[in-house]
Amino acid sequence: MRDAPLVLGIETSCDETGIGIVRGLTLLADEVASSVDLHARYGGVVPEVASRAHLEAMVPTMERALATAKVKLSDVDAIAVTAGPGLAGALLVGVAAAKGYAVAADKPVYGVNHLAAHVAVDTLEHGPLPEPAIALLVSGGHSSLLLIDELSRGVIPLGATIDDAAGEAYDKVARLLGMPFPGGPPIDRAARDGDAAAIPFPRGLTGPRDQVRHRYDFSFSGLKTAVARWVEARQRAGEPVPAADVAASFQEAVCDVLTAKAVDACVEHGISTLVIGGGVAANSRLRALAEERGGAAGVTVRVPRPGLCTDNGSMVAALGAHLVAAGIPPSRLDLAADSALPVTTVTV
Ligand code: KG4
Ligand code: ZN
Repeated sequence: MRDAPLVLGIETSCDETGIGIVRGLTLLADEVASSVDLHARYGGVVPEVASRAHLEAMVPTMERALATAKVKLSDVDAIAVTAGPGLAGALLVGVAAAKGYAVAADKPVYGVNHLAAHVAVDTLEHGPLPEPAIALLVSGGHSSLLLIDELSRGVIPLGATIDDAAGEAYDKVARLLGMPFPGGPPIDRAARDGDAAAIPFPRGLTGPRDQVRHRYDFSFSGLKTAVARWVEARQRAGEPVPAADVAASFQEAVCDVLTAKAVDACVEHGISTLVIGGGVAANSRLRALAEERGGAAGVTVRVPRPGLCTDNGSMVAALGAHLVAAGIPPSRLDLAADSALPVTTVTV
C-alpha cells in the first residue's frame, strides 16, 4: 500500500473549495470550505461570489488538508485539479492554485474532468471499479448516463438531460415550496412525511417515441412546470399546499426516471455494475430505488456515502491516483480551465 501514489486533489468548479488527499484508494484527508451560505439568498450560485470565496478559502483549506493527512506538499506524488466543466472563474482559481503548488513543490499536475472524478470517488469507499460499468451522474449542473470501459482512457456518453439538471429541478421546486437553497436536502427530508403517489407528476422522456430518440436522455423542465402549476392551482383555490406530498411526488418522478433509465442501460449493455455520483446521489429515495431495481435486474449498485457525493477534493484526488496508477502522463503546466470540458475528456 505504501507504493500507492500519494495524490492531492483540488476542486473549485462550483461553490465548494475542496482539497482531498489520497494514497491509492485510501482517503487521508477531505477538507471542504463551502460558500453555499453566501449564495442562499440568491437561490442559486453567483459565479463572482464563488470565485472570490475560492480565493479566500484555498490556502487555509490546503493547510487543513495537509495537517489532517499528516503529510507535506513535498511528500505528494502528484497534484490533480478539476479543469472543467464548471464555472469559468471558479475553475480558474483551482487551476492557478494547482499550478502554483506544482511549480513550488516540483510536482506533476493532472487537469481532470469533474464528472469522471464523481465516478472515481466511489473507489475510495468500495474499491476498484469493475469495468465496464455504467455511471449515473446527477448534480446541480449535470444529469448524465455514461458507459465506462476504462475510466483512465475516457467515458462514452449514453445520454444526458436536454434541459434542467436533476439537482436544478430539486432547487427550483424547493424554492417554489419556500424551502432553502440548495433544495435537495429539504425536499428529501420533507418527502419522508409525504405520499409519493399523491400526485401523478409527469415522467419526462419516457413515452414510446422518446424511447427511440431519447432512450437515455432526461428532461426535468416539464416536471418542474407541472409542480409549479399544481401548486399555483391549489393557491388560487385558497387551499393549503401539502408540501410533504408535493415533495414526495416530485421526488418519486425524478427518481423513477433516473433509476429506470440507468438500470435499463445496464441490462441493454450487459453490464452488472452501476455507480451513482453527484450531489443528487445523496438522495435517500434515489439510493433506495436504485438498490431495489438494480437488485431485481442483477445489477450491483455502488453509491458513495453522501459526503463524497457532493463536490469535494477527494474525488479529484481519487481520479488523479487512478491516472497515476494507470501510467497516464500528466498535463502540461500551461493547462487551461475549460468551463465546457466534454465528458469524454478525462484528463486534459
Ligand atoms: O455535485 P454537487 O455538490 O454540485 C454540482 O456539481 O452541481 O450537487 C449539488 C446538487 C444541488 O442541486 C443539490 O440540491 C443536490 O445536489 N442535492 C440533493 C441532495 N443533496 C444535494 N438532491 C436531492 N437529494 C439530496 N439529498
Ligand atoms: Zn459536481
